[in-house]
Amino acid sequence: MMSVEKRLGVGFIGSGFITRFHIQSWVGVRDADVRGIWSPNLQHAREAAALAKSLRVGDARAYDSIEQMVSSPEIDCIWLCGPNHTRVQNMEEIAHALKSGKGELIGIACEKPLARNVAEARQMLELARQSGVLHGYLEDQLFSPGITRGREIVWARGARLTGRPYLARAAEEHSGPHMPWFWQGELAGGGVLNDMMCHSIEVGRYMLTEPGQPRGSIRPTAVSAQVASLKWSRPEYARLLGEMMGSEVDYLSRPSEDFARATVDFVDDQGSPLIVEATTSWSYVGAGLRLSMELLGPEYSLSMNSLDSGLKLFFSRRVSGKAGEDLVEKQNAEQGLMPVVGNEAAEYGYESENRYFVRCFLDGKQPEENFEDGLEVTELLMTAYMSAEQRRVIKFRPEGLDTYVPPVAKSMNA
Ligand SMILES: NC(=O)c1ccc[n+]([C@@H]2O[C@H](COP(=O)([O-])OP(=O)(O)OC[C@H]3O[C@@H](n4cnc5c(N)ncnc54)[C@H](O)[C@@H]3O)[C@@H](O)[C@H]2O)c1
Repeated sequence: MMSVEKRLGVGFIGSGFITRFHIQSWVGVRDADVRGIWSPNLQHAREAAALAKSLRVGDARAYDSIEQMVSSPEIDCIWLCGPNHTRVQNMEEIAHALKSGKGELIGIACEKPLARNVAEARQMLELARQSGVLHGYLEDQLFSPGITRGREIVWARGARLTGRPYLARAAEEHSGPHMPWFWQGELAGGGVLNDMMCHSIEVGRYMLTEPGQPRGSIRPTAVSAQVASLKWSRPEYARLLGEMMGSEVDYLSRPSEDFARATVDFVDDQGSPLIVEATTSWSYVGAGLRLSMELLGPEYSLSMNSLDSGLKLFFSRRVSGKAGEDLVEKQNAEQGLMPVVGNEAAEYGYESENRYFVRCFLDGKQPEENFEDGLEVTELLMTAYMSAEQRRVIKFRPEGLDTYVPPVAKSMNA
């Protein structure tokens, strides 16, 4: 086991939106520094490194290649934050550098989704195992302070005295992602179902699992889902999307779903039914990103909504500045009564998440949320796509899941 005095050097793959969120969260992380960034665009990698330096969370430098970053004695672990379609390739490059003795790593943490489909997710897990590294699946919502604290109290008091919770409702909704690749089914592995239901299903499953009990203590048995393109394939919005994202995003001929809902049936170890009900959309126009969660049990209920922040600002019509995301992620307006999330990196869970994974890697311990969890989430998401495609309830695990690719994610040339 590594000495606790050691500081962990962290390198990031990708220098986009989520990397910047992680770097911002690092002010609340102990015993680790952001020391490296690799991204195909060197200038962007330099900018992310400069952000880390300016926040004093590490003397970060931009690397020329993944191999060079893995080889550096400064880097002990890697946070994988590239686009979904580059995941396996990034992981293969890391594994290759390790196998050829170019460097050593303690751990790899990977953003959601672990991969675009089950075959790729299995490959990710296999590569991590072969490389002999610890692995973590970065599902930030499990670390959101409201979720962590709410779960603790519900289980310690409500569930202990009156019985376990049986229904978790989770939703993540906003008005659409910021980069073209998210909107291209083949690159992202799907639409909003793959992009955001990975959060809702996992946070629902987590809330229904008794603290201290393993993931297998509740078991998924069936999935029912529906997908639709409600807003962005309307001709006027498809045109607008093309203008915003470029001609490679064509929602008149090739839309991804901008709405998805699913119910996942579970059973507990007594055979009693439990349900996770998840709703996600890129077709929600409110103040900004809305994360909501409810947990229902026999004599209690819990609810949270990230837009019900304690802080609200009012701007009159005379305050007519530029559009921005300075009040809340995926902000849709700058005037009127607007909610503000005080510290988004902490509230959405990134800060505690990174603190947790750093702690595990320093202690040489496999994180409880790891690639195996990422694989099971992918299995549930792909079963949801199957259910939507076949318009029926699908028993878990269905045949053919390992090779299944949702219609929306199939190559145009396939
Ligand atoms: N936890 C969350 O809530 C959350 C939120 C947003 C994104 N994400 C996930 O994080 C990942 C990145 O999303 P983002 O919003 O930062 O995307 P982004 O498009 O803003 O950034 C992607 C970054 O990857 C880089 N990149 C391009 N090609 C690459 C390659 N071949 N290998 C490695 N990197 C490459 C880009 O230059 C860019 O810096 C995605 O998998 C996404 O699903 C998670």
